[in-house]
Amino acid sequence: MQDSRTVAARAHFDRWSRTYDTARSSRMMREIQRRALSKLELGPDDILLDVACGTGAAVREAAGSVTRAVGFDVSAGMIEKARTLADGIGNVEFVEGDISGRLPFADGEFTALLCTTAFHHFPSQQEAIADFARVLAPGGRFVIGDGNRANLAVFALDTILRRAQASHVGLRSPRWTAKQLRRAGLRDISVETIWRGFYALTRAEKPVSRRLRLPTPRRRER
Ligand SMILES: C[S@@+](CC[C@H](N)C(=O)[O-])C[C@H]1O[C@@H](n2cnc3c(N)ncnc32)[C@H](O)[C@@H]1O
Repeated sequence: MQDSRTVAARAHFDRWSRTYDTARSSRMMREIQRRALSKLELGPDDILLDVACGTGAAVREAAGSVTRAVGFDVSAGMIEKARTLADGIGNVEFVEGDISGRLPFADGEFTALLCTTAFHHFPSQQEAIADFARVLAPGGRFVIGDGNRANLAVFALDTILRRAQASHVGLRSPRWTAKQLRRAGLRDISVETIWRGFYALTRAEKPVSRRLRLPTPRRRER
């Protein structure tokens, strides 16, 4: 059964999908998303996954510079809008689904992964990060952006939203996010805070290969 917060998110974003691209608040989110996308430094060999893609703006923007770009979102309305807006672009694809559970993609299928202004809706946040790491290929890059709970004003807002907004699970501090990323095996973690510290963009990479840990040679006993 779907988490009640996800049911609420889906209904909320289905409604919002009709006006999402023109609303003032989403123009601000778009600005952030562009910045996050640029941190992935996409190239022609990349395969991008945008988790909680909304109407697919980042997927369309990336399409010209990558091999393939995929958007994933729980809202049928957002996915429908994304497909309409991307009509005629050959290398993009939109998949409807819930992040709570295993992503419907193979291990290491993507070389770059983006997730902006959506993580606070995910009921199983640690598991989501672990699954992001799973679908990322060795050497792949990952950027997650969301409100920064380490900022006092954002902390206060998050506390209110956790009680008042049916679709809100919780914002996280960059420190918490970095810890989960490290746990999931991602490395080279860096954080940029923007908008006077209200928003944090965290970037990480999946190591190409884990260094072989050879057992320490035992001293010969004489
Ligand atoms: C505020 S919008 C952000 C969209 C886009 N990433 C952006 O930066 O403009 C949040 C998105 O998260 C999606 N979402 C919320 N909960 C989700 C879940 N459990 N699984 C997948 N997507 C989810 C919503 O449908 C919505 O499109």
